[in-house]
Amino acid sequence: MQISGSTALVTGASRGIGRALIAALLEAGAAKVYATARRPQDVVVPPGAEGRVVALPLDITDPASIAAAAQRAGDVRLLINNAGVMNFGGALDMPHDLIERNFAGNFFGPLNVSRAFAPVIEANGGGAIANVLTIVALASMPGLAGYNASKAAAWSMTQSLRGSLAPKGIGVHAVFPGPVDTDMAAAITFPKTSPADVARAIVDGIVAGREDIFPDPMSAQVYEGWRQDHKAVERQFAAA
Ligand SMILES: NC(=O)c1ccc[n+]([C@@H]2O[C@H](COP(=O)([O-])OP(=O)(O)OC[C@H]3O[C@@H](n4cnc5c(N)ncnc54)[C@H](OP(=O)(O)O)[C@@H]3O)[C@@H](O)[C@H]2O)c1
Repeated sequence: MQISGSTALVTGASRGIGRALIAALLEAGAAKVYATARRPQDVVVPPGAEGRVVALPLDITDPASIAAAAQRAGDVRLLINNAGVMNFGGALDMPHDLIERNFAGNFFGPLNVSRAFAPVIEANGGGAIANVLTIVALASMPGLAGYNASKAAAWSMTQSLRGSLAPKGIGVHAVFPGPVDTDMAAAITFPKTSPADVARAIVDGIVAGREDIFPDPMSAQVYEGWRQDHKAVERQFAAA
C-alpha cells in the first residue's frame, strides 16, 4: 500500500522496533502516525514530527483499551501489530502462566486489535495490516517454547486474516525478524540487526506489497534455507 499521505497505527511504540517504526513511517511520508503504548507518556516523538505523531494509550491484552483506541483512531489505514512479549522456558518445564502470557501478548492481542481495526480500515477505503512475528515461527527453538508456539499460531492467524480481509481491500503482511538489538533480545548472543534497519525494511516491504517480509540478513538467510530444507533448519534451531 502507499504509506505516503496515509494514517498508520503502531502497537508497542514505547521502545524497540515499535519506536523505530514511528520514525520509518514518518520517513516514508505518513501523514499521521498513532504511536500507541500501555503508557503513552513513554512515546518519544521524533524532533520536528510533533503534529504528525499522536500518542495513544493501548494495552493489546485489554478489550476496553482496544475498543477505545479503535474509536479514537478512526482514520487508520495501516495497522502494525508490533507489540509482543517473550519468556524463556522449555516445553516440559515452562510454567503455564508464562505460556499463557505469551499467547495473550503475541496471539490474542494482535488478533483482537486486528478485529477492532479491520472495519476502520475498510471504512477508510482499504489498506493493510502487518503482524510482526519472528523467524522462530518457522522452526522452534526449544528454550523459547511458549514464544515459538504463540508466534507460530499468530502466523497461522495472519494467513487466515489474509484470506478473510482480501475481499475488503486489506492486505495482510507477516514479518519474520531475526535477532534485533532491543530490550527483548538483550540476553541473546547472536549478531543483531538495529531496530532502525528492521523498521525501514518492514515499511519498504509494506510499500512493495510483499506478503511475507524478512527484514534482516539473518531472517532472509534462514528463510532461504527453510525453503530448501525445513528439517535442516528445525535441527539447527533445536541445537541452538
Ligand atoms: N528483538 C528481537 O530480536 C525480535 C526478533 C523477532 C521478532 N521480534 C518481535 O518484534 C516485536 C517488537 O519487539 P522488540 O524487540 O521491539 O521488543 P521490546 O523492546 O521488548 O518492546 C516490546 C514492546 O511491546 C510492548 N508491549 C508488550 N506488551 C504489551 C501490551 N500488552 N500492550 C501494549 N504493548 C505491549 C512493550 O511496551 P511496554 O514498554 O509498555 O512494556 C514494548 O513497546 C515483538 O512482537 C517481538 O516478538 C523481536
